[in-house]
Amino acid sequence: PSDYYTESYRPQFHFTPEEKWMNDPNGLVYSNGKYHLFYQYYPDSTVWGPMHWGHAISKDLLEWEHKPIALFPDKHGLIFSGSAVIDKENTSGFGTKEKPAMVAIFTYHDMEGEQSGKKNFQTQGIAYSLDDGDSWTKYEGNPVIGNDGIKDFRDPKVFWNAKEQNWTMLLVAGDHLQIWNSPDLKEWKKVSEFGKEKGAHGGVWECPDLFPLKIEGTDEEKWVLLISINPGAPNGGSGTQYFIGDFDGTTFTTDQTESRWIDLGRDNYAGVTYNDAPNNDRIFIGWMSNWDYARDTPTEKWRSAMTVPRKLTLRKIEGELFLVNYPLDNMKGIVYETFSDSQFELTKNQKEMIPLKYGNQSEIRFTVKNPEMTLYFSNEAGDNLDIVIDRKNKMLTFNRGKSGKVDFSEKFAGGLQKMDMSNLPEEPVEVKILLDHSSMELFINGGQYVMTNQIFPNEFYTALTLENNSNDELIINDFSEREMKRIWD
Ligand code: FRU
Repeated sequence: PSDYYTESYRPQFHFTPEEKWMNDPNGLVYSNGKYHLFYQYYPDSTVWGPMHWGHAISKDLLEWEHKPIALFPDKHGLIFSGSAVIDKENTSGFGTKEKPAMVAIFTYHDMEGEQSGKKNFQTQGIAYSLDDGDSWTKYEGNPVIGNDGIKDFRDPKVFWNAKEQNWTMLLVAGDHLQIWNSPDLKEWKKVSEFGKEKGAHGGVWECPDLFPLKIEGTDEEKWVLLISINPGAPNGGSGTQYFIGDFDGTTFTTDQTESRWIDLGRDNYAGVTYNDAPNNDRIFIGWMSNWDYARDTPTEKWRSAMTVPRKLTLRKIEGELFLVNYPLDNMKGIVYETFSDSQFELTKNQKEMIPLKYGNQSEIRFTVKNPEMTLYFSNEAGDNLDIVIDRKNKMLTFNRGKSGKVDFSEKFAGGLQKMDMSNLPEEPVEVKILLDHSSMELFINGGQYVMTNQIFPNEFYTALTLENNSNDELIINDFSEREMKRIWD
């Protein structure tokens, strides 16, 4: 697709559709050596419209090959978000054990039903593919889960529960989660509900996911539940919360009382994880936008990108369990060139300007102990983006109000983003920033605290100024800027 990919703001190492509108990642599944990425797609416009599932594949989650549209709307409705599984035991009978079917489980959205005031316009359907996702057959018994009057009833995430020998589906119903089980992906039975009294409820619950994770360095396993909500995220609009708890095959329980968020930036939404990833890895991809302004961002050919794929782990930090998310190790493979400077020492209130060489297609990282500092990104056009790390108040603020084009939406420009970092350890922590033309992903302490944001600078940032805001000396170690490759060549 190279000729498309020179437009301004086009990400070069993040997934984007070749053209037109994209939102949530769907059907994340690994099969026959390939990662599949399906996504909410509207092929006729750069704003949201009747949903299809777009499709792409990758061997390494870095370089993607675009495939034809996988699922089209039909008489039951548009194809909203959902998941995909490989039916290895052939429980559905759609394939064979030797050649298992890939089965997609998604929400049908009946737009006419919605417009005529019906409440039950969302139902769940399935489709299968016997050629690795290239062509699809909708199941003639659709919908497999009807609707007796729930307004928002969608986004099925299905996984095989090996212990119980059945399929489990997470499904959201407005303000709560429902769990359904099935022997064959066709007959479903509701087995429990969760969440009316837990977590944040500033908006509708969307795009659930549930999976076990080992606590790093132990044999103990916990289950993690992801729930996206829109609106109601701490910094406005769309965001994804998580719960750490237990799952016994039917019911999810947690004693977590406060809301926790996988990312405190404004542009990581509807993220879910891969089924069947190698080595039992839990790999997450989110949609790098926010319903507050997703339709208004200043791109013309296509709209929006996915986050880089991130590995999820559970880590105990300063006595508390965190769901950590951090770019995959293999991203090393897409580094062209590295500029590094081992150490900067900044005296009280000193500023140091570091020229940026790689034009918004880079990774910037360093380690720092007890940061009391500001990072300013700037360019000749007068754009300014600043990140303040206030160690004393354990708070990070992110200000993109003058970062470039911001006037396409008041909600985009306005407001400082805040991230509480109460559990940041005293020892040196890594600060890592991925810049890709129209996005900035910020990872503090290996993914303990994360912020993902879209940005639309008028020119590439050409300088990063580091300022010491404390009375003590500030030591920045292992500073590097790496130029990232285009993944489409
Ligand atoms: C989340 C969402 C889902 C829905 C899809 C429609 O961004 O609203 O709940 O299935 O987008 O495109």
